[in-house]
Formats: sequence, C-alpha cells, structure tokens
Amino acid sequence: MNVHRIAPSLLSADFARLGDEVRAVVAAGADWIHFDVMDNHYVPNLTFGPMVCEALRPHAVDAAGARVPVDVHLMVEPVDALAVAFARAGADWISFHPEASRHVDRTLQLIRAEGCRAGLVFNPATPLDVLEWTLDKVDLVLVMSVNPGFGGQGFIDSALRKVERVRRLVDASGRDIRVEVDGGIKVDNIRRVADAGADTFVAGSAIFGRPDYRAVIDAMRAELAR
Ligand code: DX5
Ligand code: ZN
Repeated sequence: MNVHRIAPSLLSADFARLGDEVRAVVAAGADWIHFDVMDNHYVPNLTFGPMVCEALRPHAVDAAGARVPVDVHLMVEPVDALAVAFARAGADWISFHPEASRHVDRTLQLIRAEGCRAGLVFNPATPLDVLEWTLDKVDLVLVMSVNPGFGGQGFIDSALRKVERVRRLVDASGRDIRVEVDGGIKVDNIRRVADAGADTFVAGSAIFGRPDYRAVIDAMRAELAR
C-alpha cells in the first residue's frame, strides 16, 4: 500500500492568521494541506474561495522549498467553474461530490486538463456506484466520515465499511488511486481507518484544536506505524 499522508484541514485553523497556520502545520510535519471550500448552498456553511487559496499557495512549501500539495475539497454546486478557478489558484488535488456536478465524467476531465489530480467525494449516505464508470479518470477517492459542512463532528462508523469497499475497487483496478478519509479523525481512531484501507487522512479539529501540532501529527504517525 502507498505511504500514509496526513492532511490537516484549515477549516479548524485560525482564519485571522491563515498563512502562519499553513507554515506552522507544514513545519509540524503535514504532508498535504486540506482546503475545505463551502458555498452555503451545497452545504450550510461558507468558507473561502480561490483568491484565498492563491494567497496561501506560497506558504505551502517545506523547509527545503519543495511544494506541499494543496488538497482542495469542493463542497460546492455547480462544480466546474470553481474547479477551474482553484486549479489556476495553485491547487494540486481537486475533489468534488458527484451529485453536485451534472456531468461527472466531464468535470473529472476538466480538472485533469488543468494539470491537477481529480477526486470524487462520497457522503456517508452516498453509494459508490459512479466509481464503476469513472475509476479510469479518478486519482483519489475521498470517503466522508461526517456529513460535510462543519469541523469537529463525530466519526460515523459506517465509513469504515465504505473504505474497505473502496480499497477493494481501487486494488482491483490496479491503478494508482489514493483513498482518503475526512471527518472526525483523531489519534485514537486513525489506526482503524488505516486498517480499513485508507492511505490519506484529513484531520481538522484534532490538529488545529491543540496547541502543539507536531505532537498530534507525531502521535498519529506512531499509531499508523504500530
Ligand atoms: C467537513 C470537512 C472536513 C473538516 C474535518 O465538511 O470536509 O475536512 O474540516 O474536520 P474534523 O477533522 O474536525 O472532523
Ligand atoms: Zn474536507
């Protein structure tokens, strides 16, 4: 299996100091920066747009100056125009909820044509059916373990079964597709999520809700290595 990635979600960061927060969490060992885009339409909350992503892009670099991937999670409807805007704002990965796009295959192609990797996101009650027809155009499958819209919610256990199923589909495809999980991930459950087949872990409140980001990320890695 691929190496594990920890993707802190800026949703729980201090919005008054976002650039500092990106640099702090990268210094603490973040592999990716997860950027939650909410439009007050697809989800009942409103966060940040492509201009904020573009402003933060230069801060997402490691000590050696290497680019830290920005993982944009679009909770917006419709998807296409914003997907392109985020690609041009420096996103590396762009994921969207299939029910929010009228033409899922076209949206996936659009994201890749902009030079980004494309992902599909599945809510707790959403079946995986579209993967049967899209796996050849997908670089990432994101399984929601909370209902999208807010940080700090409890992990929904049925996500583990869904992750197992996604892992089987991905392995059977033989393609290099990341399996990411988002919502309610903490030090004490990350190992179960990994055991179900996930390789990439979003964590918002677990990391930004604590004073020492490094301590949380190290503890998560220790659980993953155990
Ligand atoms: C929820 C977002 C998540 C959120 C996770 O809609 O997609 O990325 O930030 O937050 P925690 O880790 O606090 O559940
Ligand atoms: Zn997210």
